[in-house]
Amino acid sequence: MSTRRRVLGWLGAVGGLVVLPAAGFAGYLYADSGRSNVGTLTFRNRLRIPPILPPTVAADGVRRFRLTLAAGRTELLPGTTTNTWGANGPILGPTLRASRGDRVSVDVRNNLPETTSLHWHGMHLPARMDGGPHQPIEPGVTWRPSWTIEQRAATLWYHPHLHRSTAAHVYRGVAGLFIVDDDPAVRLPTEYGVDDVPLIVQDRRIADDGTLDESDLTFGGLTITGLLGDKILVNGTYDPYVEVLTERVRLRLLNGCNARILYVGFTDDREFTLVATDAGLLSSPQPLRRLLLSPGERAEIVVEFRAGESVVLRGFPAPLRANPLYGRLAGGSDTHDLIKMTAAGVLRPSPPVPAELTPASPAPTVTRPEPFRLEMGDFLLNGATMDPARIDRVTRTGSVEVWEVANGQSIPHNLHVHGASFHVLGVDGAPPAPESRGEKDTVYVPPGSVVRLAVRFLQHSDVRTPYMFHCHVLAHEDAGMMGQFLTVSAQDEPSVPVTLDAGHAQHGG
Ligand code: C2O
Ligand code: CU
Ligand code: CU
Repeated sequence: MSTRRRVLGWLGAVGGLVVLPAAGFAGYLYADSGRSNVGTLTFRNRLRIPPILPPTVAADGVRRFRLTLAAGRTELLPGTTTNTWGANGPILGPTLRASRGDRVSVDVRNNLPETTSLHWHGMHLPARMDGGPHQPIEPGVTWRPSWTIEQRAATLWYHPHLHRSTAAHVYRGVAGLFIVDDDPAVRLPTEYGVDDVPLIVQDRRIADDGTLDESDLTFGGLTITGLLGDKILVNGTYDPYVEVLTERVRLRLLNGCNARILYVGFTDDREFTLVATDAGLLSSPQPLRRLLLSPGERAEIVVEFRAGESVVLRGFPAPLRANPLYGRLAGGSDTHDLIKMTAAGVLRPSPPVPAELTPASPAPTVTRPEPFRLEMGDFLLNGATMDPARIDRVTRTGSVEVWEVANGQSIPHNLHVHGASFHVLGVDGAPPAPESRGEKDTVYVPPGSVVRLAVRFLQHSDVRTPYMFHCHVLAHEDAGMMGQFLTVSAQDEPSVPVTLDAGHAQHGG
């Protein structure tokens, strides 16, 4: 395995422009890439809509949600059952929903056979509520984080985050949405599951007997990204369709894949309107025909339909900006139909997308001008793998820093930062693509490029519990492509320790 990796490193070093040693080797390289499911689907299964989980509201006003993580069985391929994991059900989990200003708490009960954790991806909350590797939940235990929603409307999500087990636990099916609502002044479709439809897109490898193939979950050999599946699930539905009942539909897209970078568009190349990215609405809508979404990223789009038509949402070959070999190995040549959208004979009218979505937010003012340089090596960050005791960065509460993220290697990576949101200042000096504008928490970092971010940190000070930053290709994250930072107030700064009490964080499943 390590020999193969060295070979790959060498191939990458010469930019993929190599004479491959033998035709057989070339065939091996290509056999598992350039895949397509086009023509294999019949779009026969109605899209599952994750139910909204009603909280109980106690006398103190706290909205309490209850999630139970457990193993179950799901019919994915027709006539077979697959062992899957889920929250409050056999696969995926319900949608949690709360408004800015709400106080929420979640009882996360782990009935799984392994220790796990549950992370609120994109949520602005204290580090010890974050659900990362420092908040493991052992089997039979209930973890009870609570916090106040203090961010604008956005499509967030939750998933396990135990170091070295994240890829497997997400792959088996634990994931769900957390929708944050805010002032409803913007006129966008809002009827959940009707004209405001979540689409959690995930790829899986499923054997004919229904068994979930976990063989390539970690990287190694020619598996440079971890597992890329050929079966697409949307909200845990294989071969899905969704009925359209209104002239306009808002789709909340989440790339919930372990590794696959999606380049989303419609088979008739129709234009759609991007209205929100990871952390909320854009200031103005952006017309687009294609949208790049790396693992962990979200995008909200509004699509117009004519009565009686149908169209397929597809993942097209993605412009990964990798060399041809690594582009293919990372799935950049693949084409996958995701879901068919079928419009009813008569559509209810929908309001047009407003020209202004939210007052343009002023570019964040950088408070610490010297950039934090982050070198993404292949499976390393700044030359090191994740160490739960190491503090990679200390940030000041409420500060804005420039993070300069460089992928000097050949493998596609992305970067996700917890406990913060950021604006992309530029990619190799050029302004970001529309899907990388607005407030974000995850961004694609193409091979050979430098992405500059203005990262705004939260107000929660904690000298003991770090937030994580990492590549969201889960095999890379599990391999240690993750670092951690503390956010501390001026008063707390003198008590920052040299190392952290790593506790349980280093133990995987
Ligand atoms: Cu979506 Cu650190 O994770
Ligand atoms: Cu996160
Ligand atoms: Cu990576």
